[in-house]
Order: sequence, then C-alpha cells, then structure tokens
Amino acid sequence: MTTEELPPLFNWDEMTPKVSRNNALAGQDILSVDQFDREKLSFIFSRASEMRDMVQRVGSADLLRGYVLACLFYEPSTRTSSSFIAAMERLGGGVIPITQGVQFSSVSKGETLADTVRTLEQYADAIVLRHPEVGSARLAADYASVPVLNAGDGPGEHPTQALLDLFTIREELGRLDGLKVAMVGDLRYGRTVQSLTKLLLHFDVSLRFVSPEILRLPLTTMNQVIAAGVDVREVYDVADVIQNADVLYVTRVQKERFADLTQYEEVKNYCEITPELMEAAKERMVVMHPLPRVGEIHYSIDKDPRAAYFRQAQNGMYIRMALLAAVLGRA
Ligand code: NCD
Repeated sequence: MTTEELPPLFNWDEMTPKVSRNNALAGQDILSVDQFDREKLSFIFSRASEMRDMVQRVGSADLLRGYVLACLFYEPSTRTSSSFIAAMERLGGGVIPITQGVQFSSVSKGETLADTVRTLEQYADAIVLRHPEVGSARLAADYASVPVLNAGDGPGEHPTQALLDLFTIREELGRLDGLKVAMVGDLRYGRTVQSLTKLLLHFDVSLRFVSPEILRLPLTTMNQVIAAGVDVREVYDVADVIQNADVLYVTRVQKERFADLTQYEEVKNYCEITPELMEAAKERMVVMHPLPRVGEIHYSIDKDPRAAYFRQAQNGMYIRMALLAAVLGRA
C-alpha cells in the first residue's frame, strides 16, 4: 500500500475544534499576585465556584481534554503538585509529572532550567514550576512560549496559593472588606505570606504581623503595606491579637531557608495555637495554614469548626482548575 492509499486517521468533520475564550488571562503566565486586580480576582473566584459545583455534582468535565500540563518541581510539595494534577485531570487534561524529585529527570545531568522548560513546552500546553530561587518562574517564562505558573519561587512568591487563601477567606467569612487579618510565624521566608499580604491590599483590611524579631516581614513587603495606607501593626505574641482577629493565618518556620540552623532552632517552636488560645478568639473567625504544619497548630484544633486549613487545601484544586482553564483560553 502506498501512502496515497492510506485511509486518513482522523475524521476532522466529526471533531470539535479547540475553542478559545478571550478572558484577560488567556495565554498569560501567572508569576506574581501583582498581576491581579479586583476584577481579575472576582473572575477567578467565580470560575473556581463553578469548578467546585461541577466537581461536587459530576466529578469531572472535558473542558481541557487534549491539553497537557507539565508539573516541574525542584522542591518538595504535596498540596500544590497534587492539586494541580487533580485540577488538570478533573478537566479532562493530561499531566507530565516531574514532581517526585528532579533527580529522575535530566536536571540531575546538569540541564539548565532554560533548556528544561524549552523541552517541556514541546510536549505541554502550560508549565507549573516550583524552584528554590527567587525569580526562577520569571526566568522560565522568558524562555517558554507556553504559560508558566509559579508554584513557589524560593522565598519569593506563591501566587496560586495566595489566590486560594483569599478565596477561602471569602468562602468562610462571606466577605473580604472590613476584616482583621493576623499573619503568624515565618513572615520573612514564607512566600505565601508575601503573596497573600499583597493581595489583601486590594481590600479594606487591617493587618497584624506576628513573629519573632528575626522572622519579621521583609521591608519591601512592609513598605507596600504602608504605602497602601492600611492599619498595620507588628507584634510578638499571638495572644495580643487573637481576640480581635477574623483570620488567623499561621505559617511554618521555613527551615530550608536558614543559612544558620542554630537560628532555626531558636525560633522553630516560637508559637503554637492551642485550644486555650482559641478560647479567646471570636466565635466567627477562621484559622488558616498553607500546610504543612510542624507543630504550629495543635491537633485538637482540627475539630474546631473555625479550623479551615483542610477546606483551604480543597479550594486549591478549584482555584487551580479556574487558573488552568483561564490561561489555556478555556474559561
Ligand atoms: C507552602 C509553600 O510551599 O510555600 N506550602 C504550600 O504550597 N501549601 C508553605 C510551606 O511550605 O510552609
């Protein structure tokens, strides 16, 4: 049989073409929360709510069928990687998971980030990247022509986490304006703290930053807070702020970012949210944590209805479904 006689593999008339919807994030990278204004936030939140309804009613849909996402993780992850993978799969797409250690990829042979992303974009329609260096996602985006989503660049930013954090606050408390938010723990190296703080500045909030001296919020972020004119105060003891807080956002001391581990030892047990502390808190408030926790929240708090951290993790999947659909031009 000659090639001219080969019957065609595909019947194009029976296939639906890729439909592109022109939302403001279509084709964009997601590198920093600076890209989001109130309008984009409410777009993502309403799409995320639709994603949740869909998952709860039917489990999955075909919105991203035929699309492939590469998940490239140079740092450990449980929630971020699995929720991105689940997000893609619940929308009918596929995943290239490089999440179980880049030691099994050519990175261990010395391949640069630039070459790795330029290779992955030959196979994938978008790339999720977690990397220990600040600015790595931007560098990857400079090389890749497909959307790059920053899943954490060292102590820099974690925009998709901040979006799910903000979405969780709105879901739990029904609003974002008029809230008192206390952030507790490692405000210096915690990338989720930098990103969430910046997003909260779009709203009428008051902020309390609770940390030991060496883990105070970096000046660059603090200057943005001050420039935004919000009511802000730094305190050492969570007991001083818990009674007024609507949101208590607790974070882990980021051991992996310390150059001097004796300093880590000094602050690692800096704070634990206990049932006794919670007695002073409002009846309607939420305790959040990006997780993993390593002792900051006592396990007995988990059954307290105000403990929102596992619902927060679930919301991560809906937010990432919304983001993936948006950047791929399908939302
Ligand atoms: C956070 C991270 O990786 O920055 N985890 C997450 O993505 N949910 C927080 C942390 O590791 O402490």
